[in-house]
Amino acid sequence: MEESQEVAPDHPNPHIRDVAAQDISSSIAVAGHPIHAMLVHFPIAFVIATLGVDIFYWWNGDRFWLEVGKWSAGAAFIFGVLAAVVGTLELLAVPGIRARVASWNHAIAAMVLLAIAGCNAGLRLYWPDMVLPSGLMLSVLASLATAFAGWHGGKLVFDHGVGLLISPRQ
Ligand code: HEM
Repeated sequence: MEESQEVAPDHPNPHIRDVAAQDISSSIAVAGHPIHAMLVHFPIAFVIATLGVDIFYWWNGDRFWLEVGKWSAGAAFIFGVLAAVVGTLELLAVPGIRARVASWNHAIAAMVLLAIAGCNAGLRLYWPDMVLPSGLMLSVLASLATAFAGWHGGKLVFDHGVGLLISPRQ
């Protein structure tokens, strides 16, 4: 944030100055608080929970975990789609977000994550007997993709200052 907002006005590259000058405040928000940032915790938590559930199933073979995994993989996908819809609206609506390459990196990583999460949920619905090993492997992949997408999402907030509200009272 420091770099884009304080250093960039004097930056020798006119394109960087141009990007830094554009608005980056959230437009899909409640009282200025980005809804996307409120939603992303759910897909992240459900993806990681599904991996844990699969490990329990691998460990003791109790079919109870198959049922739990079906619901948590489904929730990971549905909340992921919800978060992605809101994130995409934000990306399209805010010029300073749209102009940053980092936003598109994050969106592509999130789409990869959603594709894996969708396959994982579908596998549990239609081919529950393939959860070991295929579902477990998809859960590992989904967790890695979540870490990657989440890291890039965090960069938007912590490195670029996207969606931050800085109170004039402080
Ligand atoms: C195409 C889909 C997506 C787009 C275009 C998108 C876009 C954005 C944008 C613009 C931000 C900055 C904050 C804001 O303005 O709301 C952000 C933050 C973030 N996004 Fe996404 N996002 C997408 C999907 C996802 C998904 C599926 C996840 C789940 C892993 C995710 C995780 C995050 C995280 C962790 C942050 C940082 C939030 C914070 O630290 O408060 N995003 N994203």
